[in-house]
Amino acid sequence: MSRLQSFYGRIRRTVQLLSNGRVQPVELPLFSAEEGYDRWAASYGEELTAVQVLESPILVELIPDVKDRRVLDLGCGTGRVSELAMAHGAKITVGVDLSREMLQRAVGSTKSTKSFWLAGDGLHLPFVSESFDVVICALTMGHLRDIEGGLAQIHRVLRLGGTLLLSDFHPYATFRGDTRSFLNPKDGKTYAIEQHCHLFEHYFECFNKLGIHLEDLREPQFEGFPLVFVMRAKKISV
Ligand SMILES: C[S@@+](CC[C@H](N)C(=O)[O-])C[C@H]1O[C@@H](n2cnc3c(N)ncnc32)[C@H](O)[C@@H]1O
Repeated sequence: MSRLQSFYGRIRRTVQLLSNGRVQPVELPLFSAEEGYDRWAASYGEELTAVQVLESPILVELIPDVKDRRVLDLGCGTGRVSELAMAHGAKITVGVDLSREMLQRAVGSTKSTKSFWLAGDGLHLPFVSESFDVVICALTMGHLRDIEGGLAQIHRVLRLGGTLLLSDFHPYATFRGDTRSFLNPKDGKTYAIEQHCHLFEHYFECFNKLGIHLEDLREPQFEGFPLVFVMRAKKISV
């Protein structure tokens, strides 16, 4: 059994019960994104998640030319994406995140002097318009209830012609009952973090309204079902 299969199997056994052939979600104690990631931060990233195993190679494949460009890493967490952008020659990266504990981890592991970190909310980005050439938002949009507000902020801070690279849980997985959950080593319990299901229809409606053109969409599958998606898009009007 591969590492991915065994990991995914463990997650499923932890958070779901199989009953009469139907997978039923188990109610887990729920945290807000800020509180949940503050608690998860200490152990976050210790083990690569199934989602990241599927998503990371596609991010690498679809990352636009960031050489000498300004990159916003929205929902930066511990800084995985900023590190990727730096490795591809970004001029600067700015990571924004709600969770101060996740940001502490990012600060602690940063080698580059051109990576900056900021506590903030994706719905109220503290930047003037058109500050960035590229926005990368990995595994974060599902935590925002207001997808239209989140995408409007991304559109505003992205320069005309700039690129958005966005990944997240697949809406199918969210509908199926998959949770963003973690084991708290302090009490040995599993907790879930609040998430919202955004259909592609919602994304495309917002893109059309804002002037964002979809260039690529990938939906890698695990056990025959889409678990994650990655899309790349371009700002085509202000
Ligand atoms: C699954 S982690 C992804 C971290 C990183 N992008 C990665 O792919 O490794 C989601 C991150 O989004 C952050 N987040 C959730 N809601 C947010 C919001 N409204 N504004 C900014 N960050 C947010 C969380 O604190 C968390 O660090």
